[in-house]
Amino acid sequence: MTASQLLAKSPQLSVGILTANLGTLDEELRRLERAGMTMVHTDVMDGVFCPMLTVGVPFVAAQRTSLRKDVHLMIHEPLARVGEFVKAGADMIVFQVESASNPHRVLQVLGDMANENDSARGIIRGLAISPGTPLEVLPPLLDHLDYVMLLAINPGWGGQKFIPATAARIARVREMVAGHGGPIAVGVDGGVTKANIAAVAAMGPDVVVTGSAVFDGSSAVEANAQFMQAQLRASSTS
Ligand code: DX5
Ligand code: ZN
Repeated sequence: MTASQLLAKSPQLSVGILTANLGTLDEELRRLERAGMTMVHTDVMDGVFCPMLTVGVPFVAAQRTSLRKDVHLMIHEPLARVGEFVKAGADMIVFQVESASNPHRVLQVLGDMANENDSARGIIRGLAISPGTPLEVLPPLLDHLDYVMLLAINPGWGGQKFIPATAARIARVREMVAGHGGPIAVGVDGGVTKANIAAVAAMGPDVVVTGSAVFDGSSAVEANAQFMQAQLRASSTS
């Protein structure tokens, strides 16, 4: 999958799976497929870069699905680890720029990796940027990137409140990407709810990550996912 393939379906949701019922992972994935979703987002936290410890390589491998596997790495020094996630079937590797002492090198390594699901597709090379990190990290990396994902919350937990300054950061990243010229998708992750999805869509992201709004423990997952996708399409400016 290249950035162009990601952009062709823009705007789209990537659904965070960790708030689902993990005891019935297969059934939860079928629900997302039935709802017409295209991506499943896994938040990998190592208890070092992030206070929370979540899931790792076996959990990505356990996802048997036609959805693209979007793997968000919030782990210390991801360079040595990305290969294992690619082997487990990750289609997208999105790592935190703050977590790597040499993010450029991580992107170079990802660019040489083959997609285990389909060798015709590459790996989407994604960079995640926390709310407090200056966007000036981006320009030297743009030649090696397919996807920039802005966090609208601090990494660590689902269900946090969307930080309003994220809107201006999305606009700034859009300018940087447009100035660069190559196909690069822009995403946003964290704090997106049924109440603010239309406003977030109007900020123009290509990808919106949403977890607890879809797996909310009360309404049907399919209905939640379709509501979020419809709102995203209706209000998008991307
Ligand atoms: C936070 C994660 C997010 C988060 C999204 O560290 O990167 O993906 O779990 O969850 P919601 O949509 O519930 O804010
Ligand atoms: Zn995430």
